[in-house]
Amino acid sequence: MLLTEIDHVAIAVRDLEAAIDYYRRAFGAEVEHREIVESDGVEEALLKVAESYIQLLTPTRDDSPVAKAIDKRGEGLHHIGYRVDDCAAALAAMIAAGATPIDQAPRPGSRNTTVAFIHPKGSFGTLIELVQEPAAGH
Ligand code: CO
Repeated sequence: MLLTEIDHVAIAVRDLEAAIDYYRRAFGAEVEHREIVESDGVEEALLKVAESYIQLLTPTRDDSPVAKAIDKRGEGLHHIGYRVDDCAAALAAMIAAGATPIDQAPRPGSRNTTVAFIHPKGSFGTLIELVQEPAAGH
């Protein structure tokens, strides 16, 4: 079994502050990490739940894939992050199983993770992100 944890559930929102406030009021949730990922055109806020995260995600520019997703389908569930020990090995295993990769090779993600995205077409309609945690000590 290559999956070690659900790393995060990513929810696309138009107003990040409003979403953070909602989760705070509803659950007492606090932001553990916040980051702008320029390469993806997103700002994210991570709310920790046990060893996983709820990732509230908002576009920082109009050509961001998340902006396009919100335009097309509205706010809501955007992707699932599956935690793996070895992103390259998990990506290769998914490709061997017939998955369509969006990233041909692992690349840097937020929180110093290493990630690769898999297209929802061929993966039962779910955008999948493989997430390898930073090496211990980082
Ligand atoms: Co993600």
